[in-house]
Amino acid sequence: MNKSLFLKLFLLSLLLVLPARAQEKQYFDVPFVPTPHVVIEEMLRLAGVTDKDVVMDLGSGDGRLPITAALLYGARGLGVDLDPELVEQSRAWAEAAGLADRVRFQQQDLFKADLSEATVITLYLLPGIMGRLQQTLYNLKPGTRLVSHDFRLGDWQPDAVTQIRKNTFLWVVPAKVAGQWRFESTLPGKPEMELELRQKFQEVDGYGKFSSRHAQMWEVKLRGDRITFAMVDDRDRENEAAMYFEGRVNGDVIEGQVRRGTGKSQTLHTWRAVRIAAAKP
Ligand SMILES: C[S@@+](CC[C@H](N)C(=O)[O-])C[C@H]1O[C@@H](n2cnc3c(N)ncnc32)[C@H](O)[C@@H]1O
Repeated sequence: MNKSLFLKLFLLSLLLVLPARAQEKQYFDVPFVPTPHVVIEEMLRLAGVTDKDVVMDLGSGDGRLPITAALLYGARGLGVDLDPELVEQSRAWAEAAGLADRVRFQQQDLFKADLSEATVITLYLLPGIMGRLQQTLYNLKPGTRLVSHDFRLGDWQPDAVTQIRKNTFLWVVPAKVAGQWRFESTLPGKPEMELELRQKFQEVDGYGKFSSRHAQMWEVKLRGDRITFAMVDDRDRENEAAMYFEGRVNGDVIEGQVRRGTGKSQTLHTWRAVRIAAAKP
């Protein structure tokens, strides 16, 4: 089925199902439409789930996503859904699979759920709900993976998109790096360095000062708490070299290594940066 036809059917089912449910009990933001098994497998594969993960499904339906994560990868699972019957069904299924101690379900509004335990969050919700969740998800711990069946997170560009019958999207929550940073390093001559970084989700650019001169940043990449970029050491025009930085962001500190040059002439150094001013509005 093509995507626009699916979307129409999905929206039509919303029109039919929601008013009836809303009259009986509480309002559901999205009706229960289960994710097909191969799409679940692709979502978990794309997120790189392992037995160290806690996989949480927001609007967990009959519990199939966290239960599959536990069965296939030995992950722990969490699910929240507003519908008490679906929560009951999920618990019964987890019990039957011998996973009652690894997978937990709660009847709760997903907007009120505590997401702090999750290392992977799975989503199959409508675009409006995804838009409302965007900021909350962006503020989760850097490195948390978000994987969605069919719908995007507003204007936050995914880190990866795959298609196995349906679209699946992956986002890795990036560290917050915007602002002004001052560096120390063991590069030859211990040059003074500053960077001014701008950030929109995982997209980062900026410019800096290297040894009191304007310096361009190249190939800036941010994935979770890991940042990489390059700059050119042009202090000696006869002996220019690219410097390849990689580091881990931990709040207002970044620490890592920098490789100056390539091949046999490459040298390895350490660097540390401290944020000295927040991002300009
Ligand atoms: C499209 S289904 C997805 C079910 C499951 N995640 C899957 O992929 O198979 C959406 C689910 O979200 C639940 N839901 C809708 N609004 C919710 C809310 N505000 N809080 C928690 N669950 C909600 C519905 O009951 C439904 O089970």
